[in-house]
Amino acid sequence: MKASGEKITWITAYDAPFAAFAEQAGIEMILVGDSLGMVDMGYDSTIPVTMDDCISHCQSVRRGAPDTFIVGDMPFGSYQISCENAVANAVRFLKEGGVDAIKLEGGKSVTGQIRAIRDAGILVCGHIGLTPQSSGVLGGHKAQGRTVESARAVIEDALAVEKAGASFLLVEAVPPEVTAFIAQKLAIPVLSIGAGRECDGQLTIFADTIGLFQAFTPKFIKKYCDLAPVIVDAYKQYVKDIKEGLFPGEEHVYHVIGDIGPFRELFKEYE
Ligand code: KIV
Repeated sequence: MKASGEKITWITAYDAPFAAFAEQAGIEMILVGDSLGMVDMGYDSTIPVTMDDCISHCQSVRRGAPDTFIVGDMPFGSYQISCENAVANAVRFLKEGGVDAIKLEGGKSVTGQIRAIRDAGILVCGHIGLTPQSSGVLGGHKAQGRTVESARAVIEDALAVEKAGASFLLVEAVPPEVTAFIAQKLAIPVLSIGAGRECDGQLTIFADTIGLFQAFTPKFIKKYCDLAPVIVDAYKQYVKDIKEGLFPGEEHVYHVIGDIGPFRELFKEYE
């Protein structure tokens, strides 16, 4: 697709129903992101997300989207400790989670892990620019590559990740000019989240894109619909119907088979 110039589409999902929606819409790839910690599990960062959380969500997504290319996102602590530990956890993503590739955050600092995982026969997606798992070190969730010095660091990371054997690269919150340069410099597909459109494809976080995540919306998100108020209104109507005795209606119940007489006799036995 990179060679032909066709843009690659990519979205997150954490469960079977939303994975199925993505597959039905023809989205080419799904990321089971560690953003599930904030979007799905109610944490205020991705740091607490565990390998077991990720594996369980990958399994749900695979069940919902059996024919889509799925990328599992390695959570904080699952690849930083050693290359051996990184390979062991990447293997779990494939064997237990049923994914097609893994993603890990970092550039030059994780080339050993990328090479080791690739050597184990597993497709790797790099992730550079704003890397949320290390937002403490980056001084918060801040765009990267906005100065010449910072752009050089992002470019060096991109080159290192490709050289280490990554099969594709995600660039997050980097100026479009820098992303465009990286995309034309690298042979592997370069995808953007908040890094402009001059590259090989786009990733978005599903809950932001359809208005399900209410805490905040990053600048780079385009909302295609606003589901949260629709759902709250539906729930309010449900409450009102129950309070007013309007639900369930005749059409929502299972009536006895045959005459009611014998059932009345049965009830009498218990009076
Ligand atoms: O976990 C995730 O969804 C991600 C995106 C923020 C890029 O890694």
